[in-house]
Amino acid sequence: MSKENPSHQNMRPLDWVVQHAGQIAAPGHVLDVACGRGRHTRYLLSLGYRVTALDRDTGALSDLAGCPNLRIMENDLEDGSPWPVAGEVFEGIVVINYLYRPLYDDLVNALAAGGLLIYQTFSDGNAAYGRPRNPNFLLRENELLDVFSQRLTVLDFDQGYTDYPSPAVIQKICCRRQEG
Ligand SMILES: C[S@@+](CC[C@H](N)C(=O)[O-])C[C@H]1O[C@@H](n2cnc3c(N)ncnc32)[C@H](O)[C@@H]1O
Repeated sequence: MSKENPSHQNMRPLDWVVQHAGQIAAPGHVLDVACGRGRHTRYLLSLGYRVTALDRDTGALSDLAGCPNLRIMENDLEDGSPWPVAGEVFEGIVVINYLYRPLYDDLVNALAAGGLLIYQTFSDGNAAYGRPRNPNFLLRENELLDVFSQRLTVLDFDQGYTDYPSPAVIQKICCRRQEG
């Protein structure tokens, strides 16, 4: 059994992000969409990337205020207002445990040429293990593959049951926008 303090455990980046973040061009600018307490923002900063951390509630990032490589943006992504980083492109975009389908096109358009999208969230079947249970927050089988393979090159994809960090059904993709 882990002896880690649970609050530290929650701040550990997901394996999927650790596995793929090194493929983001360096030095690069990474968008952490729905960043929450910033576990991936912190990890990406530690790798030397510039990070924009976006969430409707950024209170848990207050300890990072003033960090030179970090821009914190507090925006509601679902209230009908325009995509908050319109016109900007990023070498990397990370979306973890967040799903709002109308943003799919914005995510692809916000990737620079050669930019990497790293996405993992819960999938159909997760209700048997816990939250989220609402179908609006659960991916359909192959959904990330079907959506992103149309415009991006898929480097890695997986879906199904996982028992780490806790029992869940997930789906995850890593894909790249073509150069030039
Ligand atoms: C389950 S947490 C995931 C946090 C982080 N990505 C991680 O993996 O630790 C979901 C995040 O989505 C954010 N969120 C939910 N609805 C949102 C909205 N309408 N606009 C912006 N952020 C939202 C929440 O504030 C929360 O931080």
